[in-house]
Amino acid sequence: MTEQYVAAIDQGTTSSRCMVFDATGTPVSVAQREHRQHFPQPGWVEHDAEEIWANVQWVIREALDGAGIGPERLAAIGITNQRETTLVWDRHTGSPVANAIVWQDTRTGPLLRQLDETYGEERIRARTGLPLATYFAGPKLMWLLAEVDGLRERAVHGDVLFGTMESWLIWKLTGAHVTDVTNASRTLLMDLRTLAWDPELVDLMGIPPAMLPEIRASAEVYGTATGPLAGVPVASALGDQQAALFGQTCFAPGEAKCTYGTGSFLLLNTGTEPVVSGHGLLTTVGYRIGAEPATYALEGAIAVTGSLVQWLRDNLGLISTAPEIEELARSVEDNGGCYVVPAFSGLFAPHWRADARGVIVGLTGYITRGHLARAVLEASAWQTREVVDAMNADSAVPLTRLRVDGGMTTNELLMRFLADVLDVPVVRPAVTETTCLGAAYAAGLAVGFWPDLETLRGHWRQDARWEPAMDPDHRNRELRNWRKAVDRTLNWVE
Ligand code: G3P
Repeated sequence: MTEQYVAAIDQGTTSSRCMVFDATGTPVSVAQREHRQHFPQPGWVEHDAEEIWANVQWVIREALDGAGIGPERLAAIGITNQRETTLVWDRHTGSPVANAIVWQDTRTGPLLRQLDETYGEERIRARTGLPLATYFAGPKLMWLLAEVDGLRERAVHGDVLFGTMESWLIWKLTGAHVTDVTNASRTLLMDLRTLAWDPELVDLMGIPPAMLPEIRASAEVYGTATGPLAGVPVASALGDQQAALFGQTCFAPGEAKCTYGTGSFLLLNTGTEPVVSGHGLLTTVGYRIGAEPATYALEGAIAVTGSLVQWLRDNLGLISTAPEIEELARSVEDNGGCYVVPAFSGLFAPHWRADARGVIVGLTGYITRGHLARAVLEASAWQTREVVDAMNADSAVPLTRLRVDGGMTTNELLMRFLADVLDVPVVRPAVTETTCLGAAYAAGLAVGFWPDLETLRGHWRQDARWEPAMDPDHRNRELRNWRKAVDRTLNWVE
C-alpha cells in the first residue's frame, strides 16, 4: 500500500503554515506565509481573513508539493489556530463583514467594565474559568455587533456567522459551521462543565444564538474538504496552545509545556475536572477526543515574548533578523541593571491588568544595545517564572521540569537563563513544531491512523536539556528587581 500521511494547518498570529507528517510523527514538509498586521488605532490589532484564507490555500499546495504527494495520500488534516481572534462573515457570500479582531486587541475594555457592573466578574469566571479581560472573543463579538452597521439584524436573521479562525477555515474547507471545545473555552460564552454555550452569558452579551457555531470535540471528523484538499477528512481542531500540549504528549495530569511564539503560554494538564485558579491562571479545556470526557488545563498566558523581539527588530531597528538577538545579547556579560517589561496589551497572567503599559527601567549611560537585547530575552524568562510560581501555588504538585517548544526555543542563551530562573530543568523535544504536530495527532487519532495516545507518546524524543546553574542569591536579587520593574508598569492607563 502507498504510504499515507497526516497534515495540519496552523493559522497563527503572524503567519499560516501547513505541515505534513509521516506515521512516526516526523515532519515531511512545511510551508509558511506571513500575513499583514493592521494597527488602525493604539491598542487595536486586526487581520484580513480573506488574506489569511488565500495564504492557507497557498501553504496547503506548497506543503503537498514539498512532500511530493496529492491529497489522496492524506489520511486526514487537522486545524490549529491563534485563539480568540474573532470574525463574522456572510453565510451566503462567504465574505467577512469586517477585519478579524485579534486576541491582542484591547478595544473591549469599556464593554468589560459594563459586564462586570451588570453581572459580576466572579460569576462569569465561575462558569467560564476566565477573568474579564480584553483577550477573549465574546466581547469582541459584542463590539462588532454594536459597531458594524446593520450587523445585529443580519445576525438575528441567520445571515451572518461568528467564528474564531478554526471555524472560518473549517467552514471554508467543508461548509460545516463548527468550533471545538478548546476554542469555545476562550470566548467567555461556554460553560466549562457542560461544554455548551451558556444561554445566560450569550443573552448577557446580546449575541443572537443563530450566529454561533456548533461546539464539537477536538478530535472528530467535521466534514470532507474540497479545493486543494479534495476528499480529505477535516478531523481535528484545537487552539494552538492546546495543540502544543497535545503535540508534547502531555496526556497525564501534572504534565506541562510552555510554547514560545508571539506570546508564551504555559499549560498544565489537570485531568478530567476543571481546577479553579486562585492565582491568576486561566481554566481552559485541554482537548476532547471524540465522545470521551474532556481533559482540562490550567494556563498561564503571557501576551508578549517573541513579539518583543520583533518590536526590537521592526520598531527600534536594533537587530535586522530575530535570531540576531542572541549574538547581541551574548556581547555583554549581564543586563547591566536594565529590565524590560513588555506590557504592550496590558499584563496578562498572573496580573490581568489592562491598565499596565510597558517600561524599560534601570537606564544609565552604561547601557548598550547588548544590555537591552539581554533584558528583552530575560523578560521572557521572568514572565515564565511568574506563571510557574502561580501554577505551583495553585497545584499540590510543584513543577519539576518544563517541556518547551516554539520558535524562541532555538535561542540557547534564553533556554539556559530560563532553567536558571525557574530552578528546574528545561527540556526541548526533537520536533519543536508541536502545534502542528498536536493537530495532526488529533486528526490521525480521529480517523484511526494512530490507534491510541500511548503510540503518540512513544514518538516523543528529547533533543536538548538545560539544567539550572544560577547562584540562588543572585536569582533572588534579580527576581526582586524584576518585580520592582513590573510594579512600575501598573496604573499607567486611567
Ligand atoms: O491565545 C493566543 C494564542 O493562541 C496565540 O498564539 O502562537 O499565534 O502567538 P500564537
